[in-house]
Amino acid sequence: MTVTEVREKKESSNRLTFPSKAFAAQSPTSGLGPFTVPRRTPRAQDVQIEVLYCGVCHSDLHLVRNEWNAFMPTVYPCVPGHEIVGRVVKAGSAVKKFKEGDIAAVGCMVDSCRKCPSCIAGEEQYCENEMILTYNSDDKVLGGVTYGGYSESIVVDEAFVLRIPNGLDPAGAAPLLCAGITTYSPLRHWNVGKGQKVGIVGLGGLGHMGLKFAKAFGAHVALFTTSPHKATDAFRLGADEVIVSTDNSAMQKHAGSFDFILDTVSADHDLNAYLQLLKLNGTMTLVGAPPNPSAVASFSLIVKRRQLAGSSIGGIRETQEMLDFCAEKGISADIELIGIQQLNEAYERLLKSDVKYRFVIDMKSLR
Ligand SMILES: NC(=O)c1ccc[n+]([C@@H]2O[C@H](COP(=O)([O-])OP(=O)(O)OC[C@H]3O[C@@H](n4cnc5c(N)ncnc54)[C@H](OP(=O)(O)O)[C@@H]3O)[C@@H](O)[C@H]2O)c1
Ligand SMILES: [Zn+2]
Ligand SMILES: [Zn+2]
Repeated sequence: MTVTEVREKKESSNRLTFPSKAFAAQSPTSGLGPFTVPRRTPRAQDVQIEVLYCGVCHSDLHLVRNEWNAFMPTVYPCVPGHEIVGRVVKAGSAVKKFKEGDIAAVGCMVDSCRKCPSCIAGEEQYCENEMILTYNSDDKVLGGVTYGGYSESIVVDEAFVLRIPNGLDPAGAAPLLCAGITTYSPLRHWNVGKGQKVGIVGLGGLGHMGLKFAKAFGAHVALFTTSPHKATDAFRLGADEVIVSTDNSAMQKHAGSFDFILDTVSADHDLNAYLQLLKLNGTMTLVGAPPNPSAVASFSLIVKRRQLAGSSIGGIRETQEMLDFCAEKGISADIELIGIQQLNEAYERLLKSDVKYRFVIDMKSLR
């Protein structure tokens, strides 16, 4: 250890903390229950936020159950939650963007190296050193692991705190911090817009935001679903067409016709069935992160020079742009507000694709 590292370690172990009530998983099979986490007393650049609402992302479920073990093992106890909207209760002396009483938000990241080319480009989610996730990352300040938004408060460096524009309902805005930006960012990156035929696969938290954004960007949008009963909602949310993906003949009618497909599916499924629907030079982007690897037939890509890509959340700058876009266009998530005591039941429903279309925890229920 260098002298600086020793000093930093000593400082972090001396750092003052305060307790925050939370809900945590103790093991992959324990479910979630009451727990208390330490939060650091705000440093000069920190904002202390009283969490009002926190969305329930399928990534929370994957991590709570350690389903991404091969890529990102879960550290227990695990306090998930990265769709956070709350009220600023303290702002450190150097904080410029926030003051006490403001409504603020935190998404999937709470820090990054800030020096590498990705960070400088505002794409901290692709930090070449170490992006610090809101939960299940090393806590560089206190030591130990970071704890997420299923908690009454959180303390974050203002550089990773977002503004919630006036006019956005705070509960409906919470899912924008992950489901929103994760679909907005790839649709923007691949320039989805007018004159294009775009597919969104899966109507859950991410999928319903993908529909809203693709429609708002002017594309012709088709929803692929395994749940035919979701068709009416899909049309209301922005779909021009609904294709039941288990119906082979319905799928075949669209062979070679899509410019872009965004796959938001959380469970293992066959990618080739969708790849063959892309036209020449078409792209399919994965944002869904099922636990197991997928098999891709070379010919699914070769025959029409198709591309298969992936995309991770979005940077802080783009997340703010997305929130401002949502406020301007009147876009927010369709939510089911739950008490924190209903979390385990909500996870079971998420597994059955039974949510309209994002659970959001009303954190009053924890106080
Ligand atoms: N890339 C990133 O940065 C990022 C960020 C956030 C989340 N994620 C990942 O994205 C995925 C979706 O998250 P979410 O919160 O939107 O989940 P969600 O609300 O549970 O939605 C997933 C949807 O996938 C479809 N689906 C489920 N099981 C299926 C199966 N066996 N075959 C085909 N379709 C199935 C269902 O839609 P239908 O009923 O319409 O078929 C379901 O509603 C998760 O894996 C999550 O970890 C990635
Ligand atoms: Zn998420
Ligand atoms: Zn970096």
